[in-house]
Amino acid sequence: IGVLAPKAGESALVQNTAPVSKEVTVLYGSQTGNAQSLAENAAKTLSEQGFQVTISSMNDYKPNQLKKEKNLLIVVSTHGEGTPPDNALSFYEFLHGRRAPKLDGLNFSVLSLGDSSYEFFCQTGKDFDGKLEELGGTRIFPRTDCDLDFDEPAAEWISGVITCLKEKQGDNAAPAGEVSAESAQPSAYSRTNPFRAEVLENINLNGRGSNKETRHLELSLEGSGLTYEPGDSLGIYPENDPVLVDLLLEKTGWDPESSVTINKQGDRLSLRNALLTHFEVTVLSKPLLEKLAGISDQSVLKELVSPGKEDQLKAYIEGRDLIDLIEDFGPWTVSAEEFVQNLRKMPARLYSIASSLTANPDEVHLTIGAVRYETHGRKRSGVCSILTAERLQPGDTLPVYIQKNQNFKLPENPDVPVIMVGPGTGIAPFRSFIQEREETGAGGKSWLFFGDQHFVTDFLYQTEWQKALENGSLTRMDVAFSRDTAEKVYVQHRMLEQSKELYAWIKEGAYVYICGDEKHMAHDVHSTLISIIENEGGMSRAAAEEVLAGMQQQKRYQRDVY
Ligand code: 2AM
Repeated sequence: IGVLAPKAGESALVQNTAPVSKEVTVLYGSQTGNAQSLAENAAKTLSEQGFQVTISSMNDYKPNQLKKEKNLLIVVSTHGEGTPPDNALSFYEFLHGRRAPKLDGLNFSVLSLGDSSYEFFCQTGKDFDGKLEELGGTRIFPRTDCDLDFDEPAAEWISGVITCLKEKQGDNAAPAGEVSAESAQPSAYSRTNPFRAEVLENINLNGRGSNKETRHLELSLEGSGLTYEPGDSLGIYPENDPVLVDLLLEKTGWDPESSVTINKQGDRLSLRNALLTHFEVTVLSKPLLEKLAGISDQSVLKELVSPGKEDQLKAYIEGRDLIDLIEDFGPWTVSAEEFVQNLRKMPARLYSIASSLTANPDEVHLTIGAVRYETHGRKRSGVCSILTAERLQPGDTLPVYIQKNQNFKLPENPDVPVIMVGPGTGIAPFRSFIQEREETGAGGKSWLFFGDQHFVTDFLYQTEWQKALENGSLTRMDVAFSRDTAEKVYVQHRMLEQSKELYAWIKEGAYVYICGDEKHMAHDVHSTLISIIENEGGMSRAAAEEVLAGMQQQKRYQRDVY
């Protein structure tokens, strides 16, 4: 928990006259770090405006403080099927539980982050907003729900909130001026000003005959001033597949060289370049279809977005992209200029960094699984992973930035043991962890669980683990190759086999990390951990759940899941 006091001199007068009413608490719940950096930015701006700001992750916040709060700002993201980020869970449950206090004197406002292509868009923010009101709080500024392109709405929320707080204070000072949603970084490069990193290496980690293609990508950060720590992620702004873009142009008949506006500042690009680099063309969502129905003359499309047709709309969106929509509801008589104004800006893709900067100065490595599948009679692919797998060559450059992730960090004490569970591309951050611990001579034991389909073709970074085991930077490794045996074997089966030893490590204070697939793997590994604690600790399931929740709260159990 940090307290940001107003700068000396700047607002001493205000501080002396009404110190209490100037208190604002900013709480954030963040999985990938966006909500956290927005919260930090809000806190910084508030303190510059003379407010006494306390900022904290929801996880670190003592809920019994809530009754004392005057002004509470919540910045929170939503994940998967509308669930809160890990570090918001305990506070979320507290607020929605029986022990939640009456909050009659509280002023609040919520900034929520999400992705409008998910059904439960910004659900966690909506839940907090509704709950705070239900408990008696006063919403001083309307909740703002941000899509992936959150910079502008977030900046508007911050300045709107500040204006309202000032009005409440009876402070007639001018409203907060220009607010940036970007927090200050030591490097000149950031999410809104990415660095063009050169590709040094791009190889397939899987052997011939594998069902998978996992790319190992090495990029140069030389000259960028960008730095990172194990657990951080790299954001990449990919380009759409030119084949897909040309197909779209062919189907609409729009002139590829005609120029279109790409943002509110009025910048322009040729239509083809705009579709390649600036707009998202691979994801359909309810809000997008609603907007496009508004500019289409096709009654079928208008019908599809009409009330009562939600199930059909959902079924239509599933597995389809913009090309399908253009094909299915053409001809499009609207101009390209008008059409593209409805598209989302291409969102960056976040990848957990697979290298340690200490071990690889000026470099960043990634482990990227190529996504390919077929739906509705057409082959589809992941935008960034296929760019990497099929088009990116050494010498090419990619716009990138570092995304700090405070929720996935090695223990501060290098002697603390770590247990790492990372099947498939989930291995990435653990390569970074192990490299870092080797480079810094950390003394703590380490135990890695890895799994993939086949030993022969899919043992990612196999020789590196062998070396790490030999030189002691990795203490133990257990592997689960799921398709080498008649019965599937997964990492959690290996964990169960080692229950006694695992529990002993946990009792010794080991940190437990999970990275990889959320829906199946992380969920199953989570319940396996509970089972291990339950059985080895001789306690009830409920008690074991509490132990794990406690570990999560103390940051001894951290997840980077997707
Ligand atoms: P499978 O593809 O044979 O089902 C990395 O993708 C590894 O994770 C693969 O071996 C994959 O196995 C496995 N995997 C799939 N579902 C899983 C689950 N629920 N828990 C753990 N591992 C899983």
